Amino acid sequence: MTSSLPQHSSSSSNNNANPLSSILIVGSGLFGLTTAYSLSRRHEFANTSITVIDRSDHSSPSIFPSPDAASIDTSRIVRADYADHAYAALCDEAQLKWRQQEKPTDLGAQGRYSETGLVVVGDATCLAPVAAPSVEGDVSESAHKKLSGMDYARKSWENVSSLASHNPVLAERIQELPNTDTIREVLGTGGSSGTWGYINNNSGWTDAGASMAWLFEQVKQTGRVNFVAGTVVSLEHNETTVIGARLGDGRVFTADLVMVAAGAWTGSLVDLEGQAVATGQVLGYLDITEEEQEILGKMPVILNLSSGLFIIPPTNRVLKVARHAYGYINPQTLLIPPLPISPISISNPVVSVPRTSLNDPDLCIPAEGEAELRAALKEMAPLPGLIDRPFTKTRLCWYSDTRTADFLIDYHPHWENLFVATGDSGHAFKFLPVIGDKITDCILRDCPPEFKEKWTWKEGEGAKALFTEDGSRGGKPGLILDEELNKAAQVLPAV
Ligand SMILES: Cc1cc2nc3c(=O)[nH]c(=O)nc-3n(C[C@H](O)[C@H](O)[C@H](O)COP(=O)(O)OP(=O)(O)OC[C@H]3O[C@@H](n4cnc5c(N)ncnc54)[C@H](O)[C@@H]3O)c2cc1C
Ligand SMILES: *[C@@H]1O[C@H](CO)[C@@H](O)[C@H](O)[C@H]1NC(C)=O
Ligand SMILES: *[C@@H]1O[C@H](CO)[C@@H](O)[C@H](O)[C@H]1NC(C)=O
Ligand SMILES: *[C@@H]1O[C@H](CO)[C@@H](O)[C@H](O)[C@H]1NC(C)=O
Ligand SMILES: *[C@@H]1O[C@H](CO)[C@@H](O)[C@H](O)[C@H]1NC(C)=O
Ligand SMILES: *[C@@H]1O[C@H](CO)[C@@H](O)[C@H](O)[C@H]1NC(C)=O
Repeated sequence: MTSSLPQHSSSSSNNNANPLSSILIVGSGLFGLTTAYSLSRRHEFANTSITVIDRSDHSSPSIFPSPDAASIDTSRIVRADYADHAYAALCDEAQLKWRQQEKPTDLGAQGRYSETGLVVVGDATCLAPVAAPSVEGDVSESAHKKLSGMDYARKSWENVSSLASHNPVLAERIQELPNTDTIREVLGTGGSSGTWGYINNNSGWTDAGASMAWLFEQVKQTGRVNFVAGTVVSLEHNETTVIGARLGDGRVFTADLVMVAAGAWTGSLVDLEGQAVATGQVLGYLDITEEEQEILGKMPVILNLSSGLFIIPPTNRVLKVARHAYGYINPQTLLIPPLPISPISISNPVVSVPRTSLNDPDLCIPAEGEAELRAALKEMAPLPGLIDRPFTKTRLCWYSDTRTADFLIDYHPHWENLFVATGDSGHAFKFLPVIGDKITDCILRDCPPEFKEKWTWKEGEGAKALFTEDGSRGGKPGLILDEELNKAAQVLPAV
């Protein structure tokens, strides 16, 4: 059997045309690398040459993927705790793989996965986040529903309880925390947060950098994937069809199918018409003492869905505090505009693009964000001596945010041979063991039915991700990075 060159949706009558001889994947973050791995193991692609391009230097595994990618960090929460049942079930599937830790080569081994439990809290008195301006022709019903953090927490509790109901051992590990005191008790840090919540001991966290390094190793071992270090500056195309990618150094790579999985950078290569927007999220790291490690190392992950603030238990005396929020946008006018929405359109050159310490070594986080991280620390882990200790390091990490927090995994509606896998909306990492296979199914036009609508390319004003409204986000919507950084400059005393 040969794999078929995917047919454009408007001409899908003929589905067994030319074999797919080559695939080019732009971006080796979570979406790109898991897809490369899956393609290399599927018989449909046994004769397809697979190339992955990333800005990072693949000859040096220590900086893989690129050090400013979303997929690189000390920790990522692995939780089936979703208000949405389809993602909850997908994580349930992924956790079967995360929990494999017998052999050192198993995904969950060597500290790559720790099932420390997760405390999810909300605040009953907290109102739903500011609603997005109403727009016509909304994409889906779910886009209309504005969940508050508390609604999200309660729905998530229902969903994890229902997933665990078939297994008494799993079910026993989930417990309601009806007030601040019970929350304080399970945290064990002396702190608390929120007024209602639950603990799910079936959730945990992964060392993201180590898990990506593990995956890179697996992919290399297949011997099937050609890794190229370079920055794609534009997609090559003729009047109807995307045929490849041009790198900053002038090299051009062509392929039968081009998949763009460039994370928060995707909008600078392909005009997504605002369907997915790059948003910057704040992170702070603190060095802690052996004694503090001893206490905090035993805490579960805590996620406040009203504020978006979360703390992951420390390892190696580094504590991380972060915020899952609306984030900052960074609109810039691009010198090379992205690929327009159709062969007869002109793209908007103003796009929110990531700003990271790689292109701005002096980058710090806005004072507003730092103050919130500090507040989380004071509330959730108030160890004396810790709450006022300066952050050792701060970082902006970039999401590709969609309105509903659904991923965007689909063929482009107007260009032939172009596929995108992005719109991670800040929650994709946990799916590392399973998402590549789902993306490959979508490439084969066999997208999982429960995700077909969610992941589809959406057009029209209603699809625009003004900000993500899935109920999981804290902070204020619509903050502009430069404005917030300037505010920081005004309030900080000169040193
Ligand atoms: C602060 C933070 C906390 C998070 N917490 C969680 C969590 O707790 N649980 C969870 O499940 N998920 C979490 N996530 C989300 C998760 O990390 C992301 O969903 C996932 O890593 C996204 O992967 P990606 O492949 O889309 O993007 P990325 O990892 O950013 O990969 C994109 C790649 O494309 C490359 N690229 C971009 N442009 C070009 C170009 N022009 N040419 C060549 N290469 C290019 C980049 O270098 C990069 O390597 C978090 C994310 C952040 C930022
Ligand atoms: C791959 O090529 C081999 C040898 O030409 C052929 O036998 C096989 O059917 C091909 N497989 C696919 C999936 O195209
Ligand atoms: C999961 O949550 C959704 C709300 O998103 C709800 O409609 C559904 O009934 C829940 N599923 C189960 C099995 O509890
Ligand atoms: C969760 O795990 C912690 C630590 O092992 C334990 O003390 C607690 O009782 C567990 N809670 C539930 C509901 O299983
Ligand atoms: C564009 O490129 C595709 C793929 O190479 C080819 O099939 C098609 O004929 C080309 N179209 C034009 C108008 O050149
Ligand atoms: C959790 O959210 C609620 C509501 O916004 C807030 O009152 C509480 O202080 C929050 N905790 C943290 C650490 O932000």
